[in-house]
Formats: sequence, C-alpha cells, structure tokens
Amino acid sequence: MSETTAPYGSGASGGDAKPVKRVRIRHLLEKKQRGDKITMLTTYDMYTAAIFDEAGIDILFIGDSASNNVFGNATTIPVTVDELIPLVRAVARTAKRGLVLADLPFGSYQASPEQAFHTAVRFMKEADAHAVKLEGGAEMGPQVEMLTRNGIPVMAHIGFTPQSEHSLGGYRVQGRGDAAAKVLADARAMEDAGAFAVVLEMVPGDVAAEVTKTLSIPTIGIGAGVDCDGQVLVWTDMAGLRTGPVPRFVKRYADLHGVLLGAAQDFAREVTEGTFPGPEHTF
Ligand code: KIV
Repeated sequence: MSETTAPYGSGASGGDAKPVKRVRIRHLLEKKQRGDKITMLTTYDMYTAAIFDEAGIDILFIGDSASNNVFGNATTIPVTVDELIPLVRAVARTAKRGLVLADLPFGSYQASPEQAFHTAVRFMKEADAHAVKLEGGAEMGPQVEMLTRNGIPVMAHIGFTPQSEHSLGGYRVQGRGDAAAKVLADARAMEDAGAFAVVLEMVPGDVAAEVTKTLSIPTIGIGAGVDCDGQVLVWTDMAGLRTGPVPRFVKRYADLHGVLLGAAQDFAREVTEGTFPGPEHTF
C-alpha cells in the first residue's frame, strides 16, 4: 500500500515542493529482504542531523552515548531522560528523511513495562521521536511487548550493552564459544516480542552472521562484522572528532578534530596579530 498525504495536516505551511519520503520501519524491513544495507549514525544536534539526513543516512540515532559525547561523562550511565529529550527534539525538528530513533537511558525502563512505556511516551510526545531503542535480551521481552502493543516501535540492543558495563566486567566481546547460543536466544526473544530491528554490539562476526540469517527483522552491527543487515557508528568516532584510542570496530572517515583545531588556531593567531577582523568584516 502506498503512503498518502497526511490525513490531519502535517503542520507544514504547504507549497508545491515534492515532499521528501520519510524512512519508515517497513522500508528497513524491505531493505533486509532486498539485501540492501541499512545505515545508522548517532546524532545529537541540528547540524549533524541535517548533514547526515542530506547524506541519506537511514536512521538518525540520539544514543545515550550523548552522555560521553555531549555531556562529558565517562560512561553512558549518568545521562538522564531530561538531558536527552532536547537533543532528540533538535534532531526531529531538523531531519526530513531519516527515521529519528531515541535511546532509553539507564534506569528509565528496566524496572517494569509500565516504566518503559511512560519513558518512551515522553520521547514521542515531548521530542517527536519515531521509535525508541533499549538494551537487553530476553529479560526485556515484557518491555518490548508493552511498547510495541501500544504503537511504539522498538529497536533492541544485545551483545555488549554499555549500560551494563559494570555487570559485564568492562568492554568485552560477547557471544564467544558457548555464549553464542545466548546471543541467538536473545535475538529471537526480541523478534518474538515485536522489536523491528536489533543492534548487535561487539559480537563475533560468524555469530552475527548466524543471527542475521535466522531473524526476519534487520540486524544493525557495531563491532559485529560485515554480514549484519546494517551498520551503526558513533558519529564523533566516525568523523574523527574524538581523539585517542578508539575501539577496533571504529573506522575514522575524517579528521574533524584536526580541521577544527586548525580553524581555532588560525582564528586565535589572526586576532592576536590584529589581522582579523579586516576591512571586509567591518561596518
Ligand atoms: O548510544 C549509542 O551510541 C549506542 C550505539 C553504540 C549503538 O547505543
């Protein structure tokens, strides 16, 4: 069935420009079925949202990694719903095409399906998120069922789950050897509970390939090899804004740290020398 004009108005002021077609959950499923790869990047503000949307990234993801990448925390654990909501709102206001996915932070959904529902509703009503993501496998089945039954699309996240770093004993690959069975069981449980996709983080490539073959919903890998249906990276890693050692699964596609550092140093030098502002910048 093809999508028609929004039945209750879109809030836009009209005009003849052809509307951009929004990425929907069904498009992601269709991509898996066709064997086309899904792209997902974290984004925490309007500029990156606009750039990644223009680049055709399918899923614009406001991860709880904003904790480390926006708020300066050492882990994802401290970030709150109240801190993430304005970031999600900025991305949702900006993105015309990408699916806007909000992460449920630590402590905002684990206690009960009702808690998960109320948190997810906040992201949808106050920030215009299109879907939410939560961490955990089979134990999160009731939460995922509650959300999906009530019209909230959920992406699951299994394998290494950063919110549980202390109980997992640090950043470690999950699903090696006998533990592969648990990764597969968790993935199946998330599909059965109604998740529309599942992130596989730091899982051996052959295990991720097996999960991807078994599930009918897409898998999105981060440190899980090339056979996943899609890939996600944290944008500050992908674009080289973060310096220092990065996990093995990160590829740096640019050196934004170097570009910004050079620009700031040039600015400082010209101000110090008195060559900026010039006559062309002066009224
Ligand atoms: O918050 C985040 O950035 C994530 C990705 C690593 C998948 O959960």
